[in-house]
Amino acid sequence: MSLVNIYGEFSCAKFLCPAYKYCMCGIVGYSGSQNAKAIVMDGLRTLEYRGYDSAGVALGGDRLKVFKTAGRVNALDAMLPAGGACHTAIGHTRWATHGKPNAVNAHPHLSYDKKIAVVHNGVLENCAELKSELAGKGISCVSETDSELLAHLLALEGGDMLEAVRRVGGKAKGSATFLAIREGDPAVYVFRKGASMLVAKGEYGSFAASDGLALARYVGTATVLQDDEYARITHDVCAIFKDGARIFKSSTPLRVSPPKECACHMRAEIDEIPAALERTYLKVSEALDDELADRVRRAKRVMLAGCGTAFHACRYGKLLLEQMAGICAEAVAASEADEGAPVDGDTLALFVTQSGETADTLLAMKRCAEGGAYTVAVTNVESSGAALAADKTLFLDAGAEVAVAATKSYCCQLLAVNMLARRVAGDILREEELKKLTNGAKECIARCELFEKRMLTDKLFLVGRGQDLVTAKEGALKLKEITYRQAEAYAAGELKHGPIALIDSESTVIALATREDCLPRMRATVSELRSRGAYVVGLSGAGDLGADKTVFLPSLEDVTLRPILCVLPLQELALCSSLCLGLDPDKPRNLAKSVTVI
Ligand code: M6R
Repeated sequence: MSLVNIYGEFSCAKFLCPAYKYCMCGIVGYSGSQNAKAIVMDGLRTLEYRGYDSAGVALGGDRLKVFKTAGRVNALDAMLPAGGACHTAIGHTRWATHGKPNAVNAHPHLSYDKKIAVVHNGVLENCAELKSELAGKGISCVSETDSELLAHLLALEGGDMLEAVRRVGGKAKGSATFLAIREGDPAVYVFRKGASMLVAKGEYGSFAASDGLALARYVGTATVLQDDEYARITHDVCAIFKDGARIFKSSTPLRVSPPKECACHMRAEIDEIPAALERTYLKVSEALDDELADRVRRAKRVMLAGCGTAFHACRYGKLLLEQMAGICAEAVAASEADEGAPVDGDTLALFVTQSGETADTLLAMKRCAEGGAYTVAVTNVESSGAALAADKTLFLDAGAEVAVAATKSYCCQLLAVNMLARRVAGDILREEELKKLTNGAKECIARCELFEKRMLTDKLFLVGRGQDLVTAKEGALKLKEITYRQAEAYAAGELKHGPIALIDSESTVIALATREDCLPRMRATVSELRSRGAYVVGLSGAGDLGADKTVFLPSLEDVTLRPILCVLPLQELALCSSLCLGLDPDKPRNLAKSVTVI
């Protein structure tokens, strides 16, 4: 089975391929009658969320022209010559795993004779072997990358380029999905091994990209290459081959809309939360059935796993399953999942993942499936690896999320697990309750009251209990991720067992309270913090906390839904702080949207 989504295709074979763990780049190629440079640059802008350490393009023609730089696609854009008609080009945007993110290591890489340029997504496991083979022929590398070897190997093969691509691709071990162009040749050559690759024929030429998002502006359908398939794409044909013979494959609709151009994706994604919640409500209502609810009730062990923000959604889900349905559940960070007791056929394991391609989550899922567990994916990408591998999927339909910091997907994950817990408890979320939630979300987003300049500090703390501790942790993660400032979340009751030693008059504490029954204990915590000199801001959906200042959430009867509102001012705080510090909230340093390394 092959499906196309914004991340390209994910087959079960890829799920099991150890090499895919290294792929965190975006590659794109075009050959046709239009301006190839513009099309490839447009593709790189769309794919940049997959990695933004460095970027480069190679423009075809009688002589190849390569431009590459450390940093963003905009920096690359600035160094490109204006004009310069060219009808063949390839490009690459990189999240470095091997070699520093500098211009030399950036792709494309040129062959020793400068006649072939290559962009590569993956890692060559037989790099040392290939390097010494080339060294034996007097060819040495100028970069620290394994990818450069592919260009030299193609040049050494000589002769028919398509055959050279087949041979070099076959020789490469590990993950070797690459595009190549050759001087004086209008075609883009494509090879897939390990990392996803889509090719498509449009009215004005042919396209190749590692991610369907980069194609969606130009074509409505694309063909997903499988491992060891390769292609020659030109203005007129998009010919696919395997083992030396042409093959004919059907194309699949690209069910994706590329995100609109905007100054700040995180801003747009927060603004979209009320609408995204409505879509999630509809999709999850359709998918939730008695069978799933029964399975959760009958399972001897219920495990929820995810990474980062998705892990926080798991912690919330665990609390709700316990509090609403009386089901004992555990929430684990997917990267730590194999540290616990092995799962068996009596386990129900639920995996929360926006992208559906997080390597730690997929690995945990694979291990659970091997142990016989029933697996459920809660994901925003309908045809992602997680969705394809799971026994059951709850699709969020939050819409493409490209800002690295997860915002709308988190709120939708909370709603989905809330609806699941209710169903397990024999209840449902009614439309009127959803309406109150989305109205509350709109009000929260419009207000934006939490930010204060003194919060741009490394001494920021967030405290809460139960579901509010989960929100505090998510808020702290968001702040760290896009402001690079230290923000720590603690269980309110744990402060006096150690962390309160950190508190002084320089400290700012955000105290969260969305449950009335927590108010007395939270008030005590706030008083302890204030008496040690901290400036305390309450974020409350339950009542006054006796803080220096309190931001009140819109009223919402259902206590279990209040965390969906409570996280919004924290997302806004992180965004405002990041902008105030002059940072780019959409592309924070050292991170990429989908973490496909373990
Ligand atoms: O795509 P996933 O939900 O599996 O991603 C998991 C984490 O990498 C992700 O939530 C990460 O923590 C976010 N960037 C946080 O904003």
